[in-house]
Amino acid sequence: MSYDIAKASLELQVTDLTPTPLPYLYSGIYKEKPVILKHVVEKEAFFQEKQTLSLFASDSCVALVASDDKTQVLVLEKVIPGTTLKEINDEHKASQIFSHIVKSLPKLADPGLIYPTLEEWLSIIPNHSLLEKKLQDKAEATLKKLSAIPRNAYLLHGDLHHENILESHRGWVCLDPKGVIGPLEFETAIYLLNPLDQKPSLDSFFNKVADLQRDLGADPTLMKGYAFLRSLLGAIWAAEDQKPTEPWLVWSELLQD
Ligand SMILES: Nc1ncnc2c1ncn2[C@@H]1O[C@H](COP(=O)(O)OP(=O)(O)OP(=O)(O)O)[C@@H](O)[C@H]1O
Ligand SMILES: [Mg+2]
Repeated sequence: MSYDIAKASLELQVTDLTPTPLPYLYSGIYKEKPVILKHVVEKEAFFQEKQTLSLFASDSCVALVASDDKTQVLVLEKVIPGTTLKEINDEHKASQIFSHIVKSLPKLADPGLIYPTLEEWLSIIPNHSLLEKKLQDKAEATLKKLSAIPRNAYLLHGDLHHENILESHRGWVCLDPKGVIGPLEFETAIYLLNPLDQKPSLDSFFNKVADLQRDLGADPTLMKGYAFLRSLLGAIWAAEDQKPTEPWLVWSELLQD
């Protein structure tokens, strides 16, 4: 077990620690309730996840029950049964669940909030050496087009894909928020591209866009544009983490037209 998880569990009096398949997540019992201990190694990511969970506290988000800043460990309500959205085969049903969560989460961004903005996230795309010229040109044109459309700025989850949406006894909840300030349509991008390990289908993509337009009032042009930019960002981040870029770039090719 990691030193930080062991230290935090002593500090916070979490008992019955049991490993999960992920080395930074442990199950345990806190004040007689089942919890998950999550060690977030990167300092900024820890404080951002902690702050966003507090701001999102609701029926649609996993509860943050305690935390230890020194070891960077979060104590989260254990989501039971914990079935993920990926296991819902009916796409319309999945989109309904996604929309329900999105509607209850994002808040208009308070100017006092310290978060990265979507422009900052996207600023690494232009001229990135990973991207061939054709994609770079299309990215620049898309960035220009989307930034000219005025939108409200929301505090977004920032990583609302199928495996960050779980079923609990109290309904469907999200977890693992990143926190970023941007338009509502950016929240839909990662959902539209996932599950990433399934064969990309434009039919399914546009079915989801239609569902989200109806359920969220999201703009289809913005949803497609942000999904394209998110696929480029995904490829760049994957390359940085030495993970496969291919699933992302397949989407970039499909969505560039
Ligand atoms: N509180 C919880 N209750 C039940 N299952 C959980 C809980 N937290 C995490 N899990 C399970 O572990 C998986 C991974 O956890 P999480 O999404 O927090 O981290 P991650 O995606 O691996 O890491 P990162 O923070 O780097 O994105 C989840 O998809 C979920 O299946
Ligand atoms: Mg996750």
